[in-house]
Amino acid sequence: MNIRTYGSVLAYVATAVTFVVVFFILFSGGDFSHSFSHTNSKSEFLIPIVQLQTKLNLNRQHSSASSHFRSSLPRNPTISTGRRPPELELARARGAIQGAATVRNLSQLLRNGDVLASDIYHNPSAFYQSYIEMEKIFKVYVYEEGEVPIVHDGPCKDIYTIEGRFIQEMEQGRNFRTKDAHKAHVYFMPFSVTWMVKYLYKPDSYDITPLQQFVSDYVRIISDKHPFWNTTNAADHFMLSCHDWGPHASKGNPSLYNSSIRVLCNANSSEGFDPQKDVSLPEINLRNGNMPSNLIPLPPPSSPRPHLAFFAGGVHGPIRPILLNYWKGRDPDLQVYDYLPKGLDYYSFMLASKYCLCPSGYEVASPRIVEAVYSECVPVIISEHYVLPFSEVLRWEAFSIQVNVSEVAELKRILTSVPENKYLRMKENLRAVRRHFVLNQPAERFDVFHMILHSVWLRRLNLKLEV
Ligand SMILES: *[C@@H]1O[C@H](CO)[C@@H](O)[C@H](O)[C@H]1NC(C)=O
Ligand SMILES: *[C@@H]1O[C@H](CO)[C@@H](O)[C@H](O)[C@H]1NC(C)=O
Ligand SMILES: *[C@@H]1O[C@H](CO)[C@@H](O)[C@H](O)[C@H]1NC(C)=O
Ligand SMILES: *[C@@H]1O[C@H](CO)[C@@H](O)[C@H](O)[C@H]1NC(C)=O
Ligand SMILES: *[C@@H]1O[C@H](CO)[C@@H](O)[C@H](O)[C@H]1NC(C)=O
Repeated sequence: MNIRTYGSVLAYVATAVTFVVVFFILFSGGDFSHSFSHTNSKSEFLIPIVQLQTKLNLNRQHSSASSHFRSSLPRNPTISTGRRPPELELARARGAIQGAATVRNLSQLLRNGDVLASDIYHNPSAFYQSYIEMEKIFKVYVYEEGEVPIVHDGPCKDIYTIEGRFIQEMEQGRNFRTKDAHKAHVYFMPFSVTWMVKYLYKPDSYDITPLQQFVSDYVRIISDKHPFWNTTNAADHFMLSCHDWGPHASKGNPSLYNSSIRVLCNANSSEGFDPQKDVSLPEINLRNGNMPSNLIPLPPPSSPRPHLAFFAGGVHGPIRPILLNYWKGRDPDLQVYDYLPKGLDYYSFMLASKYCLCPSGYEVASPRIVEAVYSECVPVIISEHYVLPFSEVLRWEAFSIQVNVSEVAELKRILTSVPENKYLRMKENLRAVRRHFVLNQPAERFDVFHMILHSVWLRRLNLKLEV
């Protein structure tokens, strides 16, 4: 039965709350071998995960496990059957990652600088192995259809920086890009929703149909011209958008919305964002396209942080009014502003605070989270339905605090009750995860570009395409 060869690699690297079974398998040590001692075959232990995978699979209509995989794809009779070489490569990579996931002696795997690894990653060895496998084999085909400015380009400064910078990096194709579409594992549609809004949207009309029309047309073009979209019903295709309306634009095509990997800043799980197939994209606000100069050097570890917490930002969305209502101008320990008074510097405040408050605004993501990482100011995430970036790999609880919206009134008590050694550990961990949130030009190993790609890679590993 081919389901046995098909492991949920995402689940190995991740231990999100939903992956309870996997959590048990990965972290229960001896229990692992005990529970599965009835079998010698390594692949057998994948069976308990199969239930979890039904969500991950291409065809969500078939719930019967036995028919699930075989019928998971609409077969295109013009495509040769038999497994394509990319599928075999992926199967080998899955095996290697699953093997690494069970290695429990980390000292064999990690170098000195990685002492924090078991704190910041769910499973450091699975992550490293997965990353290395990605570097070895992962190939992305970037569609050439479409014209600038809306396709092959995107914003490279301000709040949606990550959208343009990712598209550019992918277009330049230093690594990972293949011109041979038959060798690709995933297919990237390099359009920019931010540029759609700029060029197609009529201001103040609140009419987003032009965006959806563009997406719909784009998909029609690539799916007419190339076989790949139809072959997998788009499950191995991905789009990326940091714009708030990225999710809306993706509704321009039902398969794109329901099957493709959507890499989105607006990762609101109660608005259709599916953490098993979609990817949460960190929002990075680079005014003028550059890192803020006072966030470039690493903050000296002993620099004073006189403020307990800091927030400054526009009052929009459902959560910020609550925060400001309780804390604006109320307590000198909590520096909470809507707009920062003239003459005060935003990043200097972050560098001078122990905690940086990161409430959702109009959309769930906030660039403050990444800025807090850069300034080693422990992020306090106040949001609902937000799927945090790279949470399939990173243990956010090791370097951030989540405060429920209903607990905002208790903010000071919550923060002051964090033991000092726990705070210091989170701060150290922030330094260790920083590289995963930094944008480099050109991209560097383990930086944010590669982490995004790694998230896509994990989603792709969970698909078995029987073609
Ligand atoms: C882990 O591996 C290292 C290096 O091979 C070895 O020296 C050490 O004894 C091992 N530790 C355990 C607990 O097995
Ligand atoms: C893919 O399917 C669409 C809709 O059924 C069809 O119009 C298109 O021609 C197909 N593409 C290819 C390459 O066969
Ligand atoms: C996604 O699939 C569901 C169920 O088939 C369907 O009702 C829905 O319209 C689809 N979403 C989009 C945006 O097409
Ligand atoms: C997330 O989606 C829910 C459901 O549509 C919505 O009520 C909520 O406001 C969204 N959150 C944000 C911050 O936009
Ligand atoms: C957050 O608050 C909501 C509403 O009060 C509650 O239902 C939920 O359980 C809380 N979550 C946590 C993690 O405390």
